[in-house]
Amino acid sequence: MSTIEKPKQDLPAPAGDATSKLTVRVKELSERDRRRILRHFLALDDEDRTLRFGMRLNDELIVRYVSQLDFSRDTIFGVYDSKFKLVGVGHLAFAPRETYPDSVSATLKERIAEFGVSVSVSGRGQGVGSKLFERAAIHCRNADVDTLYMHCLTSNRVMIHIAKKAGMEIHRDYGEADAYLTLLPASPGTVFKEAVQEQVASLDYALKANTRAAVKWLSSLPGFKEG
Ligand SMILES: CC(C)(COP(=O)(O)OP(=O)(O)OC[C@H]1O[C@@H](n2cnc3c(N)ncnc32)[C@H](O)[C@@H]1OP(=O)(O)O)[C@@H](O)C(=O)NCCC(=O)NCCS
Repeated sequence: MSTIEKPKQDLPAPAGDATSKLTVRVKELSERDRRRILRHFLALDDEDRTLRFGMRLNDELIVRYVSQLDFSRDTIFGVYDSKFKLVGVGHLAFAPRETYPDSVSATLKERIAEFGVSVSVSGRGQGVGSKLFERAAIHCRNADVDTLYMHCLTSNRVMIHIAKKAGMEIHRDYGEADAYLTLLPASPGTVFKEAVQEQVASLDYALKANTRAAVKWLSSLPGFKEG
């Protein structure tokens, strides 16, 4: 029997500084981002690593995990800040529904999705986690997947809040650590929205990458000081 958590009204104040909002653009990452993904995960502390991966991964295991990321099989989303630092990473993987015993009754679709997300401490409270989550959900809908699993402890109130804010019900048929969310089917609107988001984020990425490269080149010149 599924437990469905209902949204609570009395939420504590956001963890981040709402006055310094960054423009959040979610982009699909590729091989060229692998080094920055590694840097992002290594900067997470033990508690965040436990929340993200379900266990306290040490640096060596993080290095192995990142080296094994398969960009052709899974979809990895990222958010870059204005200095071309990766502040958020969302990892979406599709798997046969038999992977989770309860999903056989939860969905009629062949595949389910698994999602993990993390945001750097410096990027929190600015909508990065929410945007990564929304993008993963829209990607699932467009891929005809209606069930999204996450490792999400009942104590992870921020993540639970993000999921509920997106209008999703959280089911816990499978213990307290794993939750699944039921998604609506795709519509022409969701397909269009994802395509536009990716296009805008790609332009933004190219601009930041070129600026970064130009600053690097300039800073190698004698007498140049970065402002
Ligand atoms: C969970 C996580 C991804 C959130 O990232 P984020 O970028 O800070 O999230 P957002 O800014 O998009 O949203 C945070 C929301 O939680 C709310 N919030 C903050 N503290 C809260 C709390 N203690 N209880 C409930 N809600 C809280 C904020 O008000 C905000 O909601 P709003 O947009 O409606 O105002 C980030 O904290 C993280 O990386 N945690 C460690 C890894 C993890 O837990 N991953 C999830 C499991 S895979």
